[in-house]
Amino acid sequence: MPPTTFDSTDISTLAFWALPAAQRELRLAVLREERPVSWHRPAEGGLLSDENDPGFWAITRHADVVHVSRHPELFSSGFGVMFDNIPEFLLEACSSFLAMDAPRHTLLRRLVSSAFTPRQVARIDSQIAAQASNIIDDLLMVRAQTNSAPFDFMEHVASRLPMWTISEMVGIAPEDRKAVAISANEMVGWNDATTLAGREPLGMLMEAMLALHTAARSLAARRRLEPTDDLMSALVHAEVDGQQLTDDELSAFFVLLAVAGNDTTKNSIAHGVFALSQHPEARALLAEDFEGRVGGAVEEMFRWATPVMTFRRTATADCELSGTSIAVGDKVVMFYAAANRDPSVFPEPNRFDILRSPNLHLGFGGGGPHFCMGASLARTQVKSILREFHHRVPNLTFGEPTFQVGNFIHGISSLPCTITGTIGGAS
Ligand code: HEM
Repeated sequence: MPPTTFDSTDISTLAFWALPAAQRELRLAVLREERPVSWHRPAEGGLLSDENDPGFWAITRHADVVHVSRHPELFSSGFGVMFDNIPEFLLEACSSFLAMDAPRHTLLRRLVSSAFTPRQVARIDSQIAAQASNIIDDLLMVRAQTNSAPFDFMEHVASRLPMWTISEMVGIAPEDRKAVAISANEMVGWNDATTLAGREPLGMLMEAMLALHTAARSLAARRRLEPTDDLMSALVHAEVDGQQLTDDELSAFFVLLAVAGNDTTKNSIAHGVFALSQHPEARALLAEDFEGRVGGAVEEMFRWATPVMTFRRTATADCELSGTSIAVGDKVVMFYAAANRDPSVFPEPNRFDILRSPNLHLGFGGGGPHFCMGASLARTQVKSILREFHHRVPNLTFGEPTFQVGNFIHGISSLPCTITGTIGGAS
């Protein structure tokens, strides 16, 4: 039986998730320190109100998040992985193998990995630097045209490289990319008033999901007739257990990749560049030895930002975690942001330290079978953008970011920016 009383530190309200990350961390730190496995009432603002939902366990220590991630036989993904309750049909239509357990998860993940061949990864990887350079060319053009007026970093920089990368990988045509990225952003923005723009959350999600499924079906139909070397071409011709994937399965893959590939990396770029601007000492260290330090800087940005803040599991048996009994059927939510500030793993966890080594952050998950498939592509993208700024536009000044409200993606909806000083920095 789950506990009947809820923890006194409330992390379930939308008001909590609307706080700046540093203030959320103050509350999470109390839990991590005193009650690392704590019981809470259901998250406010979920898409599906369920009177019988008893609540969830919050897991805030690094070691426990790793334990849960690496024991899928005890902590299942098959009952849903979102913190909020989501209608079942939406879960199936959007999550694909993210919300599955072995053996189906293993099979489908292997299929996507094998369709995404090393040759294709290398092709995209090698073009990311050129794309990053184009983005800065365009930015400088906008600057010249607008007489150095402030621009939105999200629109003109952060969103562009992830959208290009995931689209190239999956096979999305240039004219469809923006619409796909907007729908992907809506898929994770149901708690955020700016993203909702007056719409009702479930309605917005349905609209976004339908738009993505329509795009996926149309692409799949084209690739069946005329395959190229993209992921969709490989998937429409692949067989699982002697059967081809259905349009519904292909569309769910498409949604998963569009969402996983866009918002996560977009926000990493924005949080990362913004963090550098807020920490001149880190910026100076990076400038001193860019190639030697950019790898470490990017890892610290993933830790600092924790672009994916939570994922959920469901206990499949009675078990124990950090001395607390968990019952079969209980919801267990991993707080990656809290684990990434765990002082037992990260000395001075609230310091942005690009020289941190080792940096065992859980930005891409705690290991185990669901570990992020796009980690290496995300790293290449963030590095390429940093490199462009370092060499060409070293002086950026930021205004106040507007953060998205929600318990899943640590999102920024707008980030005013101006280019100050000279263009063309370090050689
Ligand atoms: C900085 C950017 C990114 C972050 C922070 C991130 C984070 C994550 C996290 C936390 C998970 C869940 C891990 C777990 O449950 O153990 C995940 C899974 C996943 N990610 Fe990423 N991700 C990023 C970029 C990408 C990109 C660029 C792609 C696609 C190219 C991608 C594709 C996936 C997929 C397909 C899964 C599901 C894996 C599975 O269930 O087996 N991610 N990611």
